[in-house]
Amino acid sequence: MSYDIEKAVAAFRALAEEQQARAEAIKLQGDFKDFSKLDKITIGICGGDGIGPVITKESANVLKYLLKDDVDSGRIVFKDIDGLTIENRIAHMKAIPDDVLEELKACDVILKGPTTTPQAGDGRPNIESANVAMRKALDLFANMRPVKIPEQGIDWTFFRENTEGAYAVGSKGVNVSDELAMDFVVTTTEGTERIARLAYEYAKNNGKERVSIINKANVIKTTDGKFLNLCKNIGREYPDIITDEWYIDITTAKLIDEKRRKDFKVFILPNLYGDIITDEAAEMQGGVGTAGSANIGKKYAMFEAIHGSAPRMVDEGRDIYADPCSMLRASAMLLSHIGRIEESVRLEKALDYCMFEEKKLTITGRSDGATCREFAEYVMDTLTTKFGAEA
Ligand code: IPM
Ligand code: MG
Repeated sequence: MSYDIEKAVAAFRALAEEQQARAEAIKLQGDFKDFSKLDKITIGICGGDGIGPVITKESANVLKYLLKDDVDSGRIVFKDIDGLTIENRIAHMKAIPDDVLEELKACDVILKGPTTTPQAGDGRPNIESANVAMRKALDLFANMRPVKIPEQGIDWTFFRENTEGAYAVGSKGVNVSDELAMDFVVTTTEGTERIARLAYEYAKNNGKERVSIINKANVIKTTDGKFLNLCKNIGREYPDIITDEWYIDITTAKLIDEKRRKDFKVFILPNLYGDIITDEAAEMQGGVGTAGSANIGKKYAMFEAIHGSAPRMVDEGRDIYADPCSMLRASAMLLSHIGRIEESVRLEKALDYCMFEEKKLTITGRSDGATCREFAEYVMDTLTTKFGAEA
């Protein structure tokens, strides 16, 4: 067996230094951007891969429809950002090519289609996920994912930590030898406190009586232990809110326990557990195609579908039948984030109506269902006829 411990130690040293510097940098950050004080808001539209360009374009049209007055006056500017495609990323051998990152940074908020992530061993260069890279590059530390099933009394909001945990150096694990591979999990004090505070503030401002901290601190003692203790400390500042703590394994079970699951309201989760649990929850709501996702940082925010790029739909010529609902939910979250609460509520209502109530058009992903464009137009018609500005 050949191995080089010194090389592995050097690799770990570099990671520890990089993450220590990141932890220090978080402390220097300012407060959240105040959109009401901006003269101009730039919304970046970034199509991504697979079905991404189709669902993103149609969602952008709905946003432009809702924001027409601001677009006409120049207060809101839409900016198309190409180049976040798998082909271009491979050509540059970068998760986000430099010029694309500059364009992203020139925006205040971004609506982003799903991007294809090469998997180790699939024949493509093993570049980092564009999603994960963007969350890190723009420091989008909070991944907020709501899931609601009103008829079952389910109203959950997940606050997934989005830049640390198993993802922080997920593409920088170390092969110590042919026999031994190691990855690393990262928890920082500032990184944990900021997600916990956001979740508790959300609970307080939205009348949610319970916050559940999800962890596996019985086994992953150092990083999950730190995460749990810091979240509990923040929770002590909110005595009116009940804090409870759940291991991730039993959480997956309790979400399908009809008697217990209604008690959950707001969740705080380390990155990987948040990734897993939010797919489970979205599936219960009607599928990952129904849930939106907000990636929030102090300076930037990015809104996306929680599903992937579905390259098979494109290969089979079915991309025009892609379901835009997840992207439209994300668009509603974008509106709320930039302070357009009324438009956000109208869009949510129109989506509820089109998806669950009237259901004049349904999306099946195939030619027996509506196209993405037809569905987006249905939503806009519904906004005009049923949920107009004065309504
Ligand atoms: C998500 C996705 C991403 C993640 C993938 C595409 C890297 O599953 O947004 O949940 O793991 O975070
Ligand atoms: Mg996921």
